[in-house]
Amino acid sequence: MSDQHAQKQAAAKAALRYIEDDMILGVGTGSTVNCLIELLPTLRLAGAVASSQVTEDKLRALGIEIVDLNFAGTLDLYIDGADEVNVQLQLIKGGGGALTREKIVAAASNKFVCMVDDSKMVEVLGRAFPVPIEVLPQARSYVARQLAQLGGEPVYREDFVTDYGNVILDTYDLDVSDPIALEQQLNNIVGVVCNGIFAANQADILLKAGSEGVKTIL
Ligand code: 5RP
Repeated sequence: MSDQHAQKQAAAKAALRYIEDDMILGVGTGSTVNCLIELLPTLRLAGAVASSQVTEDKLRALGIEIVDLNFAGTLDLYIDGADEVNVQLQLIKGGGGALTREKIVAAASNKFVCMVDDSKMVEVLGRAFPVPIEVLPQARSYVARQLAQLGGEPVYREDFVTDYGNVILDTYDLDVSDPIALEQQLNNIVGVVCNGIFAANQADILLKAGSEGVKTIL
């Protein structure tokens, strides 16, 4: 088992302390969240709102009841991973392509706990990891031209369709020095459904796993 996987498991274990009995839990997507999902059957949840079809299938397979967000009201807690995190707990997400549903469930939750291993911490978002942007299929080329005008280099994610039937442009070289402003600017491009910058609604608590253990950052 890799060190990185062990760190993901440690972060997932640390997240358990935020989960209360009879909660409806918002559950993210990705390999770190998969470590959390494995631990959920030991808890007494009322149900879960899933942030992707993949997560929904995993939860169902463990006998956890899936709740439609439209009937769940405001959730107390959403737990997810991230592709990049800065010290302000602003994130890039969407490596797994679930960014839109993840952003919806995060927005509908009072608290967002983010679990990462050390490798995800960055000074400036978007320098190493591209910003995933979910786009309506018909608008793909138009949006790509708009992104190029912003200095970005969009790369069409081949052979991938989101849970909502859309496509993803993984966009390199965007200037993410002001994540809140860029998140808004990208949302304003016609045809963009959602972008992977989580800054307007950043994480509230970061569980950062490293060789020294798991640190909690507020
Ligand atoms: C999926 C995501 C994931 O949270 C992100 O890609 C991190 O994944 P992992 O835990 O596998 O590193 O945003 O859309």
